[in-house]
Amino acid sequence: MTATILSGREAADSLLNRLKPLVKKWDPKLVIVQVGNDPASGSYIKQKLKSCTEVGMRHEHKHLPETLTLKDLMKTIDTLNTDPDVTGFIVQLPLPPHLEKSVPQVIRAIDPKKDVDGFGAYNLGKMFLSVEFEHLPPATPSGVIELLSYYKIPIEGKHAVIVGRSNIVGKPLAIMLLNRGATVTICHSKTRDLASLTKQADLLFAAVGKARMITKEMVKKGAVVVDIGVSRDEEGLKGDVDFEAVQEIASAITPVPGGVGPMTVASLIRNTVKAKERQMEND
Ligand code: GUN
Repeated sequence: MTATILSGREAADSLLNRLKPLVKKWDPKLVIVQVGNDPASGSYIKQKLKSCTEVGMRHEHKHLPETLTLKDLMKTIDTLNTDPDVTGFIVQLPLPPHLEKSVPQVIRAIDPKKDVDGFGAYNLGKMFLSVEFEHLPPATPSGVIELLSYYKIPIEGKHAVIVGRSNIVGKPLAIMLLNRGATVTICHSKTRDLASLTKQADLLFAAVGKARMITKEMVKKGAVVVDIGVSRDEEGLKGDVDFEAVQEIASAITPVPGGVGPMTVASLIRNTVKAKERQMEND
C-alpha cells in the first residue's frame, strides 16, 4: 500500500479561498506580537503575515525587543484589548527566558473575544461542551480537523491515538476528536509501552517534536497518520514520523513541511474572521 499524501497546502488554499469573501465583508485586523528573535517564531510569523496578505486581511506585526519587561508587555496587551480597530491578536510563543514563567499571566490578560489563538481558559473551556461551542479553537488542532474534513476522512467511531499532551495541541485535539465521536487515547512521556497503543490507532496523531520517533513498527496497516511535530536540525525541518517507512503501510499521511503547518496558519485567519463576526453580533 502507498499512502495518500494529505496536502496541507492544498487544503489550506481551499480554506483561505473560502475565507476571502468573509474577510472582504468583515474587514478584520490581526495583530501578531513578537518579543525577541526566536528563529522558529520568525519563520512562523512570516508565514502568518504572508497568508494575511493573500486573503486581503489587515495585519500588523508588533516586533518588541528581547529585553522587554513584563510590565511593558502587559501594557501592550492592554492597548490591544481596548483598541476597537483590533479584531484579534496573538502573542507568539515562546517568550524570551525572563518572561517564560509569566506565560499563564500573559495568556490570562488577553480579552477572550480577541484571543484568536484560543489559548485562554474561556475559549479552551467552551470546547469541552460540544462542537457548537468551539468558537475560537486553537489553530493547530482546528487545522488538523479541517485537513481530515477536506480529505473526507471519517472521525466518528474511530480510535484516535494522540502522542503529546500539550495545552495548545494534544489536549485540545483530544477534545475536538471526542466531540466528533472518536474514541480517544492520549499518550505522553510517561506512557508505558507506547507502541502497543499507537498500533491500535485508526487515526494516529504525533505531536511531540522529536524527529522520526514514530516508526513503521508503531503503526497499524491502513492507519491515517497526521504528523504535527516539528523539530529542526542541520538538515532542516523534521516531523515526528519516519515518513518514508510509514507511508508504505499507512492509508494516508501528512508530510512535513506542507502538512499541518499551512492548516495552522489558515485556521488562525479563520478564527480572526469568526472573532469579528461575533464582535459585530454583540455590538
Ligand atoms: N508558538 C508555536 N505555535 C504557536 C501558535 O500557534 N501561537 C502562538 N502564539 N505561539 C506559537
